[in-house]
Amino acid sequence: MTEILSVRKLNKSFGGVTVARDIDFTLQAGTMHCLIGPNGAGKSTFFRLILGEHAPDSGMIYFRGEDITRMRSFQRIRRGISVKFQVPGIFKALSVRQNLEVAFQYHLHGHDLSNTIKRVLEFTNLQGEAQTPAGVLSHGQQQWLEIGMAVGVEPTLLLLDEPTAGMSPDETRKTGEMLHELNTRGITILAVEHDMAFVEQIAKTVTVLHFGAIFAEGSIAEIVDHPGVQEIYLGTADD
Ligand SMILES: Nc1ncnc2c1ncn2[C@@H]1O[C@H](COP(=O)(O)OP(=O)(O)O)[C@@H](O)[C@H]1O
Ligand SMILES: [Mg+2]
Repeated sequence: MTEILSVRKLNKSFGGVTVARDIDFTLQAGTMHCLIGPNGAGKSTFFRLILGEHAPDSGMIYFRGEDITRMRSFQRIRRGISVKFQVPGIFKALSVRQNLEVAFQYHLHGHDLSNTIKRVLEFTNLQGEAQTPAGVLSHGQQQWLEIGMAVGVEPTLLLLDEPTAGMSPDETRKTGEMLHELNTRGITILAVEHDMAFVEQIAKTVTVLHFGAIFAEGSIAEIVDHPGVQEIYLGTADD
């Protein structure tokens, strides 16, 4: 197994509140892994640290063996990291096609651009909606468009922050199938997710974040049976 992402003793606080506490985290290349934890645990912040939107107070981040801790976001993206954030990142007034053009404009041109757009429209099942304003799409379709925007430039590591939030069970299952397809193409996936049925559909292993620290890590069965994990979700843990 090869480590694609390796995080060492990562710390970050905002105004005295610790949102990343000594995080040691390793992701193996080619895997699908989920990150769970109560609201405010620091999951989205962890993604922003990996992408370089926040600078850590201390600690190191390695991507494919290279120290990226001090790199700018665009340099990390160029090396193969892509993120779909929790907050919507589509332009609702622009068509589906225009959204894809905006997402790929710095990376692809001419034939490469049109071929990639065609491939992404097929992958996201939005072939019939290329001219539709993104704001008119169903909620699920908007999420798929965003996943398409994140994978058009073939990342090696894809981070997804709550990709199925607000989706119907049907859309959620379809999303899981899409992620499996991406994984088959060699993309390593790390997803923040609350829906344990979806976690089971896409991942074998789970990391639990609590107050910015890694609370537990293991197989889905181990995490579901973990008494401490049940407590933090019920809000009865005393730390
Ligand atoms: N830019 C910021 N400035 C100050 N506090 C922040 C900032 N971003 C996140 N936080 C705080 O960090 C904590 C973790 O937030 P977040 O990473 O969004 O949690 P999660 O995604 O697990 O729900 C929260 O208490 C939040 O208010
Ligand atoms: Mg979040």
